Amino acid sequence: MRLLQLTDSHVRAAADGALKGWRTLESLEATLAAALDEQPAPDAILATGDLSQDGSPESYRHLRRVLEAAGVPVYCIPGNHDHPPAMAAELSAPPFHYCGDHRLGQWRLVMLATWDGDRGGGRLPPDELERFQRVLDRAAEPHLLVVLHHQPVPVHSWLDKVGLDNADEFMRIADSDSRIRGVVWGHVHQVFERQRRGVHFLATPSTCFQFLPGVERADVDAARGPGYRRLELLPDGRIATSVGWAPVGVEAVS
Ligand SMILES: [Fe+2]
Repeated sequence: MRLLQLTDSHVRAAADGALKGWRTLESLEATLAAALDEQPAPDAILATGDLSQDGSPESYRHLRRVLEAAGVPVYCIPGNHDHPPAMAAELSAPPFHYCGDHRLGQWRLVMLATWDGDRGGGRLPPDELERFQRVLDRAAEPHLLVVLHHQPVPVHSWLDKVGLDNADEFMRIADSDSRIRGVVWGHVHQVFERQRRGVHFLATPSTCFQFLPGVERADVDAARGPGYRRLELLPDGRIATSVGWAPVGVEAVS
């Protein structure tokens, strides 16, 4: 099972809308095209939040048009910039799946919503923590991949001030199930890859601008263009993963 993760596209209602110098819809299209140029093609897409910058229905319609053209299921979760009701209204019908949990062969994909208002940071509310536990209790698959928007571990950046507020509650549940092979998120606009007790902890670059890693200021990483992550979920529970970058030919605007 091959997954393509696209995250933090920050698309606006206006098709030519920009953020930090990037026309975000154009940048998403270029990133998807670059990822699909690679072979083999993905079996599904993970879209891990901040898909919209303004939470508008129009922005989600842009996303729907672009992502459904890939011809594979798209599993979505909201980020802090998203508007969950508008997102669910536009991105719930196949090939889109909003949150929930899904069987992927020998794997179960657990999509968690950490949205807690448009305040930067996130939180798993009590009902989402209960759902997480319930999914683990019921899952029959030998391998699990957990996907959320906000980082549940420090990434050693200013972004740690706007991570997952109740990461301790998340980790307590996650640590209780030895079938979890990977935890994947967006939000931080940079690459992060760690192993903790044999579990992959992975953050993925945005499809527009990146933040400079490892600094306390919110500086844009001028050396990096739009990116994406490939994840191959192997039947034996291993994960093969790599980050790819779109050509820098995507023009930044002033
Ligand atoms: Fe975010």
